[in-house]
Amino acid sequence: MNVNVSLKDRQKPASPNGPTTEKVLAVTHWTDHLFSFRTTRPDGFRFRSGEFVMMGLEIDGKPLLRAYSIASPNWDEELEFFSIKVPNGPLTSRLQKIQEGDEVLLSRKPVGTLVCDALKPGKNLYLLSTGTGFAPFASVIRDPETFDKFDRVIVTHTCREVAELGYSQKTVDDLRNHEFLGQMVEGRLDYFDSATREDYPRQGRITTLIENGQLFDAVGLPPFNPETDRAMICGSNEMIKDTKALLEAAGLEEGSNAKPGDFVIEKAFVG
Ligand code: A2P
Repeated sequence: MNVNVSLKDRQKPASPNGPTTEKVLAVTHWTDHLFSFRTTRPDGFRFRSGEFVMMGLEIDGKPLLRAYSIASPNWDEELEFFSIKVPNGPLTSRLQKIQEGDEVLLSRKPVGTLVCDALKPGKNLYLLSTGTGFAPFASVIRDPETFDKFDRVIVTHTCREVAELGYSQKTVDDLRNHEFLGQMVEGRLDYFDSATREDYPRQGRITTLIENGQLFDAVGLPPFNPETDRAMICGSNEMIKDTKALLEAAGLEEGSNAKPGDFVIEKAFVG
C-alpha cells in the first residue's frame, strides 16, 4: 500500500471547523488491549508536546470522537497515538481494527495541561504514568524543548502486565538510538518501569516506589523537593489522586496553563 499521501488525496472537511480526515500510516498491536498507530498530520496543525486532541472515526455517517493524547512530538511530520482496545467500546472496538491506508477523523484544536509551559522552571522533570497515560510523555520526552528546560527527565511507566510496557520501552530505546536526539538525552533521561501483576525485575505501583525510595535510589536523586523538582502525572483518577497526594506532601503545588506550578495532572483518556 502506498503510504505517501499527497495533499489532494486527503478529503477536505465539510466544515472549516469540523474534523479533518487523516490517513493511517502504520499500526502496531502491543497486547490484546493496547495498540499504537501513526497518521498523516494536517498542514497547519500545531500543538505543544503533551497536548491531546479529539480523534476517532466516522460511524454510520456520524463522527465519533474521543480525547487522545498526541504521542508524537510537535516536530514530527506525522501524528502518533497510543490506545486501549475496549471490546464493547463504541469507538475503540472499531478503532482497534484500523489498518494502514484507512482514515481517521481529527479535530483541529489540541489542548491540555501536560505541557512544559504549565510548569515553573526547575532542574528535574518527573513524568509519572500508568497504562495509556504514557502517551503524552512519549511526546514530551521526544521534544528537545523539554531538555532545554530541564537537566534531568525521569519518565516512569507502570502497568499490570510486562507486555504492556512494550510501547514505552520501544519509544525510549528508539529515542536513545536516534541519530540526533540520542546525544541530547544521553545521561539525562531515565526510564523507570514496573509491573504490578506479573513477575518483573521491578514490581509495584509508582506510589509505593516513591514512598519506599526505590524511584529516587534508581535515578540517584534525593526525594521530591519543590526547589528543584517538577512533575506531570497521567493515569487513572485513583492513580492521579494518590500520586498527587505524595507530591503535595513534599510541598509541590499544582499548576495550570494560566498559573504555572510545580506539577500538572491529566487523566489518561479512555478511547
Ligand atoms: P495494580 O495492578 O496494583 O492495580 P489500571 O489498568 O487499573 O489503570 O492500572 C494500571 C496500573 O496502574 C497498574 O499497574 C495498577 O496497579 C496501577 N494503579 C492502579 N491504581 C493505582 C493507584 N491508585 N496508585 C498508583 N498506581 C495505581
